[in-house]
Amino acid sequence: MNLSTLTRASSLSTTITSTTLRRSITISSSSLSYTPTSTNPKTPLFLRPPIFTATLTDLQKFQNWAKTLTSSIGSSFKDSDNGPDSTILHRELNWFIEDAVENPNSLLTQSETEIGRVVKLRAELGDLYTLWKQRIEKRRPFQYVVGCEHWRDLVLSVEEGVLIPRPETELIVDLVCDVMKMNEEMKSGLWVDLGTGSGAIGIAIARVLGEFGRVIATDLSPVAVHVAQFNVKRYNLQDKVSVMQGSWFDPLSGFEGRVAGLVSNPPYIPSGHINGLQAEVGRHEPILALDGGEDGMSDLLHLCNGAEFMLKSGGFFAFETNGEDQCRFLVDHMKSVHNNSFCDLKIIPDLAGIQRFVTGIRS
Ligand SMILES: C[S@@+](CC[C@H](N)C(=O)[O-])C[C@H]1O[C@@H](n2cnc3c(N)ncnc32)[C@H](O)[C@@H]1O
Repeated sequence: MNLSTLTRASSLSTTITSTTLRRSITISSSSLSYTPTSTNPKTPLFLRPPIFTATLTDLQKFQNWAKTLTSSIGSSFKDSDNGPDSTILHRELNWFIEDAVENPNSLLTQSETEIGRVVKLRAELGDLYTLWKQRIEKRRPFQYVVGCEHWRDLVLSVEEGVLIPRPETELIVDLVCDVMKMNEEMKSGLWVDLGTGSGAIGIAIARVLGEFGRVIATDLSPVAVHVAQFNVKRYNLQDKVSVMQGSWFDPLSGFEGRVAGLVSNPPYIPSGHINGLQAEVGRHEPILALDGGEDGMSDLLHLCNGAEFMLKSGGFFAFETNGEDQCRFLVDHMKSVHNNSFCDLKIIPDLAGIQRFVTGIRS
């Protein structure tokens, strides 16, 4: 099986799937403990204050223009690189308008006599044109256009330079929750999320930890560190999650043998497969988050080696892989190279049935 084409193709479709599913998760701005007080490029569009206005006529002109542009795509993206077709893009357009308009339901009930009525917007009408052009003409991912991704019960700010968290990665948090259910002490330990990106995994773990549990989330990318810190603050978790910049275990010096849980979704796509990715991913998401070296294994192997030194006895690790062969390779590597250091090594499938995660316990 061709590892990365398949799985990043599946991640690619998960970009689509996640946008397809995002409205099934009900999240209101009131569920966030940090309410942005001013417009900021990193504040999700739907949480920005509705300080702009347009007439209903002008908004409808935008809507008609955007619909025509969207319809013109047909299946061309799908045919070229398995990208979204116009049905999916129309759905995204509806969400985009819902995010941008203060009271989108009122648009449905407006009668023709109200056509001159003023509608409140969360971005200038001119910006809506620019953003939708970027979505269609530049293939800019929808999540960067609206500034967020809905992931588990979180709304995570994302922007260029930080990976859009994928649905399959949500399962890492479930695996961690299972471990905590079996051993309550793990809730009070130190957890580490290596290559945190938007902070998704680290924030989700912090929300299930007990009073004394802590998370260190690291990333080499300064943009990712900035965005993760922003998301940590939005969820008021500054006391529980420390975001540190540096390569893999470098920021963890002094914590050797003290870590209760180590999780990571590292870059794992073989370099040669990067060019074949869907345009939304290959052109816009950070190469640092995708490229795992010649066979996609460089970072995963480095993480396995480090886990031996960082985890305390009984400590748990979970790594996401590109799937199937990478999982088997990793387990074989841990058995042969780190012979007695780990036990209970398991390969866990994602919701699509792809063997995706490797987990284990430090002996
Ligand atoms: C596949 S992304 C995962 C992001 C996030 N954990 C998620 O699941 O959405 C891999 C992350 O590893 C980071 N990364 C790449 N090389 C790194 C390194 N040497 N040290 C630390 N982080 C690194 C990237 O910047 C990126 O944020």
